[in-house]
Amino acid sequence: MKNLLSPIKIGSIELRNRVIMAPLTRSRSNREGIPNDLMRQYYEQRASAGLIISEATNISPMGVGYLNTPGIWTQEQIEGWKPITQAVHNKNGRIYLQLWHTGRSSHPDFHGGEFTVSASAINSGGQVNTYDGLKDKEPPRTLDISEIEDTIDDYVKAAKNAIEAGFDGVEIHGANGYLIDQFICSGSNVRNDKYGGSIENRCRFGLEVVAAISKAIGSDRTAIRLSPSGTFNGMFDETPVETFSYMIDKLNEYNLAYLHIMEPYAPPGKTYIPQDSYLQDREVTQYFRNIYKGNLMTNSGFNIDEANDYISNGIADMVAFGKLMIANPDLVERIENNANLNDWDVKTFYSGGEKGYIDYSFLND
Ligand code: PHB
Repeated sequence: MKNLLSPIKIGSIELRNRVIMAPLTRSRSNREGIPNDLMRQYYEQRASAGLIISEATNISPMGVGYLNTPGIWTQEQIEGWKPITQAVHNKNGRIYLQLWHTGRSSHPDFHGGEFTVSASAINSGGQVNTYDGLKDKEPPRTLDISEIEDTIDDYVKAAKNAIEAGFDGVEIHGANGYLIDQFICSGSNVRNDKYGGSIENRCRFGLEVVAAISKAIGSDRTAIRLSPSGTFNGMFDETPVETFSYMIDKLNEYNLAYLHIMEPYAPPGKTYIPQDSYLQDREVTQYFRNIYKGNLMTNSGFNIDEANDYISNGIADMVAFGKLMIANPDLVERIENNANLNDWDVKTFYSGGEKGYIDYSFLND
């Protein structure tokens, strides 16, 4: 029977196990988004995971919306990532880059005072942590058709840069109320052109990004993450089950490395706001397993036993762990040895520096 420790093939590579490091914003980069040696140590420590998915990484200046997050649009950023992918590969690990455009979940301060961009000019509400402290979000500006095409080009360039930087593939961030999700959901998209209105039109942007990246670097190195019950970042969809059933069924056409689905989730310090029409906790992966034909990864608050159950029952093929991976660099070895797990410290998730980043203990420390 399969479990977390069974190998799996995704695209054309084999993963040693199904213990996946979830994409985690840790804000240890600099303002220019250039990865550094501290990040190299952090990822290298976690190389025994079947696959590391990098923290969300900005595809373009317009994509930026969080403090000290890395990028993948300049040569300096590419060069900064190279020692990281090399270090993971030297330990026989695998690493994907997560491609991020925050859209309206940003602030004009990150863009020289210019509007943020989105599918429509609808403010999500809430606040953004800027370099000058917390500020209220402001209404975004609507992307026109030629800008949508340019943004798809930015995704493609970023994916190619990721391959140049040595990543094994890319995961498109289509979840959590960022740009692609803003197009998908009716609460943030009231366009009346081919990118808005019907479910088909709202899913078009995300699917075009998937198609363009698949063409540029191969669908076997392309993956996507979705949050079909997501309400974080002010998200809402009138018919979430229908919307995401369409999107996920369409993804079957691409033969992707995997689809990464999130169960209901709120980031540290936030509370998840359930909606009646949404699939509830632990219904999501099960529901979409019946639609998606390829490798399915799930995530959000799983413990080890639950994750093993999901894999042995075939509900998911892989499970991504966030907090457990932060606190246990050798999570795989701990699972192998049935060892105790370290607790995580929320206070150091985004605080910068070594503390709570590269100083969690290993089993034989
Ligand atoms: C966060 O930094 O809180 C964050 C970033 C990316 C996500 C979700 C949360 O997808």
